[in-house]
Amino acid sequence: MAQRISGAYRLITMPSIYKGLMFSLGADRAISRYVDEVLQPKAGMKVLDVGCGPASVLAYLPSVDYTGIDLNEKHIAYAREVYGDRGRFIVGNVAHDVKQEERAFDLINVSGVLHHLGDDEASTLFRSLKRLLKDNGKLVTLDPVWLSGQRTVARLFNWLDSGMNIRTPEDYLGLLNGLGFDVQTRVFSDLLRIPYDHVVMIARNGRPAGVAD
Ligand SMILES: C[S@@+](CC[C@H](N)C(=O)[O-])C[C@H]1O[C@@H](n2cnc3c(N)ncnc32)[C@H](O)[C@@H]1O
Repeated sequence: MAQRISGAYRLITMPSIYKGLMFSLGADRAISRYVDEVLQPKAGMKVLDVGCGPASVLAYLPSVDYTGIDLNEKHIAYAREVYGDRGRFIVGNVAHDVKQEERAFDLINVSGVLHHLGDDEASTLFRSLKRLLKDNGKLVTLDPVWLSGQRTVARLFNWLDSGMNIRTPEDYLGLLNGLGFDVQTRVFSDLLRIPYDHVVMIARNGRPAGVAD
């Protein structure tokens, strides 16, 4: 992973500090909007949350069959403590540790992850996620983004981010090239309390003609 992990950046690998920082920036409202407007989960769906961190999104989901996976064992321990049997929480790399569940998931959430990954890592990740998604399933990503004419403060926050692979919308889209997804992007400039820009990609795995959401 290409990310800053020394000094103050090490602190955000600790679940309570990461959650505290996120919530001070307005993450509660941001996650709620992201769930309602983008993820749009339905009760009973099988959901995979890749790089779930402390699984903050789970508090905003209806009754779904939730699996969260993260490389950071402290985040997973925290999620288990908070959510207990509301979900399955796995320490591991999604490319290796859930690969037996082919075409099992209706919805895959990859929020705040891509900007920590180089292009090769991200491509490997998407190839493995493609295999895990149901034929008519939806994969959603959310990350900070570089935009032309971007507010100076938003650019400053991007420079300070621990993830070293913040991209333009076009470069994020390029990571899904050739995988057979039907992709839409949307930019949000008001999810957090601070000037900050996010891009969302909504990638659909193809679905039979005439089948709506
Ligand atoms: C910035 S955190 C995002 C946490 C959470 N999704 C959120 O939106 O608050 C990124 C997380 O992705 C995890 N991660 C990165 N690559 C991964 C992979 N291949 N498999 C599982 N977890 C991964 C990291 O350990 C880290 O906790």
